[in-house]
Amino acid sequence: MPENADLIVHHARQVVTCAGGGAKRGAALMNVGLVEDGAIVIQNGRIAAVGRSNEILGSYSSAQQIDATDKVVCPGFVDAHTHAVYSGDRVNEFELRIGGAAYMDILAAGGGILSTMRATRQASEEQLVREAQARLQTMLRLGTTTFEIKTGYGLDTETELKLLRVIEILAARFEIVPTFLGAHAIPPEYAGHTDEYVDLVIDEMLPKARQWYKQSLFAQQGKAFYIDVFCEDGVFDREQSRRVLEAGLALGLGAKLHADEFKALGGVTLAVELGAVSVDHLDMTPPHEIQGLAESETIGVVLPAVNFHLGSTPYANARGMIDAGAAVALATDLNPGSAPCFSMPLVMALACRYQKLLPAEALNACTLNAAYALGMGERVGSIEMGKQADLLILNAPDYRHLMYQMGHNLVETVIKRGVVQDFREALTGEA
Ligand code: NIG
Ligand code: FE
Repeated sequence: MPENADLIVHHARQVVTCAGGGAKRGAALMNVGLVEDGAIVIQNGRIAAVGRSNEILGSYSSAQQIDATDKVVCPGFVDAHTHAVYSGDRVNEFELRIGGAAYMDILAAGGGILSTMRATRQASEEQLVREAQARLQTMLRLGTTTFEIKTGYGLDTETELKLLRVIEILAARFEIVPTFLGAHAIPPEYAGHTDEYVDLVIDEMLPKARQWYKQSLFAQQGKAFYIDVFCEDGVFDREQSRRVLEAGLALGLGAKLHADEFKALGGVTLAVELGAVSVDHLDMTPPHEIQGLAESETIGVVLPAVNFHLGSTPYANARGMIDAGAAVALATDLNPGSAPCFSMPLVMALACRYQKLLPAEALNACTLNAAYALGMGERVGSIEMGKQADLLILNAPDYRHLMYQMGHNLVETVIKRGVVQDFREALTGEA
């Protein structure tokens, strides 16, 4: 008697499982775990079995089946770096930059992150939820099933806590890992007094953020809570970044770091030394620090949509990182200033063209490695027995079309925790 299941997806031309026993490096990044004529069995929101269709269909039956003939099934994407909660836009700055203004000069003049801070401070919690929800829904439609979201547009204790509450409200509907980025920029109240602002982050914001986390849904779900810092010339230097991250670690939180986006300040070495789960951007990272990253457990998260959007810094040397043996992940960095990008497939398309990742490497970097960059590698990021059933059905004959084709959405069906997502409601706005 075949065993009964909640859902069976069968006869996929390719199932790419991305399976692996940890974050992938080197040659392992070329292995997408391809199963031809594949099938997946889902029970209670989890993967119960994966294999060839004839074997699976002989062992399982289900009232709900999806025929994926001529299609590809892959894991849902994990976007390991977003700033998805903000208000307003920066379309005027987009024009200024086209005219030659530099991103960091706009910030130094009180625009950039600070202009988004002003809009975000003014916005109500409800408005921020509404706006972020629309963004996450768009990203889900494009295949992202797990999101990291950072605070960082409040830059005062009250607003940073408001952003944490917004993230928790969003988590009722989307799978999220939260990150506290109080040290994202120096707010106008502390202009010229960066060390005092760092003191505020450490003495007031971090303890309150931790208190919030302990009582949050995220702690209940057993998810990590990370601390991040924008380590950059004119923002937080290496020692200030160290102080914030060490304070977070002392409170039992995890560490991430924005490093080397415009200037190499030694942030990668700092992140590795502190055992950060990831270090992100890495556009200007020198070879000896890439080597140090490769010898560590820290994941290098590269964000090519930023280079595409700003056009001012070279793409991170992700090829060199992989060749050196580093575990590399890709993410959108969704934010209104440096990357108004919702699409992991676009990020993969850029990584293949400008960073010379092969499609297999790009896919592993957006799934399993990205999951490990959030401490979620045991739950999501690959199609393996016991993991959450977060899958995509692609309207393509080969997974490489995800990177090869550009500018339209190949994701036909999104399955999150075993539930086929219905996007009609989002179009009509009906509850
Ligand atoms: O990751 N670099 C700092 N933070 C963001 C940009 C935020 C913004 O411009 O609003 C980033 O690129
Ligand atoms: Fe960022």
